[in-house]
Amino acid sequence: MSDNTKIKSIILAAGKGTRMKSETPKVLHKIFNKELLGYVIDAANNTGKVTENYVIVGHCADEVENYVHQTYENAKCRLQSPQLGTGHAAFQAYKDLEGFDGEVLILNGDIPLLTTETLNKFIEEHRKNNNALTVMSAIFEDPTNYGRIVKESNGNLKAIVEEKDATLEQKSIKEINTGVYLLDWPKVHEAFLNLDSNNAQNEYYLTDIVKWTIKQGLKAQSYILENNDESFGINSKKQLAEAAKILKNRVIEKLLNDGVTVVDPDTTYISPETEIEADTIIYPCTYIEGKNKIAKNCKIGPFARIRGDVELGEGVKIGNFVEIKKSKIKAHTNVCHLSYIGDSALGANVNIGAGTITANYNHITKEKFQTTIDDNASTGSNSVIVAPAHIGENASIGAGSVISKDVEANALGLTRAPLKIFKDWFNRVKN
Ligand code: UD1
Ligand code: CA
Repeated sequence: MSDNTKIKSIILAAGKGTRMKSETPKVLHKIFNKELLGYVIDAANNTGKVTENYVIVGHCADEVENYVHQTYENAKCRLQSPQLGTGHAAFQAYKDLEGFDGEVLILNGDIPLLTTETLNKFIEEHRKNNNALTVMSAIFEDPTNYGRIVKESNGNLKAIVEEKDATLEQKSIKEINTGVYLLDWPKVHEAFLNLDSNNAQNEYYLTDIVKWTIKQGLKAQSYILENNDESFGINSKKQLAEAAKILKNRVIEKLLNDGVTVVDPDTTYISPETEIEADTIIYPCTYIEGKNKIAKNCKIGPFARIRGDVELGEGVKIGNFVEIKKSKIKAHTNVCHLSYIGDSALGANVNIGAGTITANYNHITKEKFQTTIDDNASTGSNSVIVAPAHIGENASIGAGSVISKDVEANALGLTRAPLKIFKDWFNRVKN
């Protein structure tokens, strides 16, 4: 297949995920506030080759479907009910592929650590080797419970055998099926019409498409993962936590390589969709989620939280106990202590005093409002800016003020009650 062959993906996500012990469907559990299924769809879309995704839903279908439709323009859901196995699951998108000429990528919806780079290599190998079918495999020291990759002496695939159907000899094979496949379409479409449930689990096994493919004299191979983490499927809260740790370590390692200083990787959490330029310093106990862009020479933390859709210009300081969300902050602005900045645009060289709050949310109407603070303005400690509000260039806000109107450039905004001093108070109270 050529470099511009189109790919459609089928993502299996109908399973119950009982071990999560949750009312939330398994694939909607989140790492860094992004759904597991979102990681998988993004990994596929980011190859630049996948034009459409079919998500197979079953358990809590409505919730998963809502998420998919709200988040992705090129993803559709197909219902699998009842759930008769992985082969039966993938078959639910069979009709959608009628007339399609290209490749079909099959993935599980619960493998958030699979990267686009690996998918691209996998696709490249499939094409280079002229395979009709390629399965992504991994070498596991303990292969228990996984499908085993059985090969011919020439290295080509012979079969994938499930643990429950495997002979003792097959059980000793350490190369396992990760559940990711690439198929030439329509070349192997008939494999789906020939599945049966004559096996130990009475399920329609997707893995059986291998046998059909080989029987037709078509070429099937495995692609061995370099990093086993990438096939990590999430089935429990413990595994969810483990995956989050692997992901955050991966992100921090890359940032360190790129010249970002992360003082204490153990207590720092940075989402994969956060870009940070070199010489920015991230102090301990900082939590950064969502999509953010952080320029060079910033100082962030300790104990800072950046919640997504945040852009920081060069040399911005975000200090301890500061929360920032959906805001753009220009160069050399300081938000050093105990502040909340949300839905805001801050200019350059702004000084945000300790304890400044942008009050962006109307609890009754559920609306959110914008705050704009222009270059060189400053807010005194403990001031509340009730949005919508605009603080002009060079303007000052007096400490302790509640600002509910715009403050023009160069002005002072102050709502402080006049200070009264009662002389000799101590002695008056004491007597
Ligand atoms: C499957 C593979 C096995 C592989 C393993 C990797 C088969 C027969 N076996 O095992 O070779 O090593 O994955 O994790 O395919 N699902 C549905 N509908 C169903 C059944 C499953 O949508 O009817 C979904 C699940 O939600 C899950 C995925 O398919 O996302 C894999 O199912 P799971 O039961 O975890 O895999 P196994 O069958 O154990
Ligand atoms: Ca199963």
